[in-house]
Amino acid sequence: VDPTLDLVAEIQRLRTEKNAVILAHYYQAAEIQDIADFIGDSLDLSRRAAETDADMIVFCGVRFMAEVAKILSPQKKVVLPDLKAGCSLEDSCPPEEFKKFVEAHPDHMVLSYINCSAAVKALTDIIVTSSNAEHILNQLPQDQKVIFAPDKHLGGYLSRKLNRDMLLWQGTCMVHELFSEKELIKLKARHPNAPVAAHPECPDQILQHAEHVGSTSSILKFALESEADTLIIATEPGIIHQMEKAAPHKTFIGAPGADGNCSCNTCPYMALNTMEKLYLCLRDEGPEIDLDEQTRVAAEKPLRKMLELST
Ligand code: 13P
Ligand code: SF4
Repeated sequence: VDPTLDLVAEIQRLRTEKNAVILAHYYQAAEIQDIADFIGDSLDLSRRAAETDADMIVFCGVRFMAEVAKILSPQKKVVLPDLKAGCSLEDSCPPEEFKKFVEAHPDHMVLSYINCSAAVKALTDIIVTSSNAEHILNQLPQDQKVIFAPDKHLGGYLSRKLNRDMLLWQGTCMVHELFSEKELIKLKARHPNAPVAAHPECPDQILQHAEHVGSTSSILKFALESEADTLIIATEPGIIHQMEKAAPHKTFIGAPGADGNCSCNTCPYMALNTMEKLYLCLRDEGPEIDLDEQTRVAAEKPLRKMLELST
């Protein structure tokens, strides 16, 4: 790309010309968040994708999120700036192995966290996100046996909170696993009045120090509504951009990894999307998300169920 090109102006021009909508997750680079039509958590973004009347959805997030957009809006062109933007939770649940696991427990209902492949969604009864998992689980009878995949930390958190045993697939998010309890305790000692807000993908030893546990949008809401002037944020630090924009007088500190700072907790997959790739993706209308129709239809069912149960 010509280095003198005004990427912001070009993206604006192409977006209008092609009737495209740019959806971005809170973990995207600040400049991508700033140019997006809509920023949100996984649930917000899937709702937007289902409702949009744009001809093309440019998804600035990871591949499973763009796949959800395609599953819910199959007639639309869905593009992702970098198709290699995967997710370690998705990688930790290979569909073939998961299929055997599900078949070995035929009396269980299958709940899967939205951070999984379309093939795993196709083996699922109800999809959940960190925003609606609790609300959805509360609608199931207490004696309903449940498989929860792929995140063992989110599953463990829900099991403890709702006092419900679930069969947990042992997947994890490599980013949220990197927070260090030892360094977090030291940081809390330096900022004794700073509440900790954490994503439920964090291991329990981190969640135990948190005043608030929830999805990215609920962490943002908590941070903005809190009376504290300093907060510690235990999730991917990309979200701090929206906090600083909305509350410039407050201080937001990313929870530390073992090296004592938060830079190691950047999601390497989210970081693959850049402004340059966003421009190219709008210009070339690709790389495009393409799913085989059988998988798409099978994955749509548990996603629609999620949308129905999360209102
Ligand atoms: P949210 O649904 O809370 O935005 O989480 C998405 C995600 O990938 C967290 O790592
Ligand atoms: Fe996946 Fe973790 Fe990145 Fe979220 S932060 S997209 S769960 S690897």
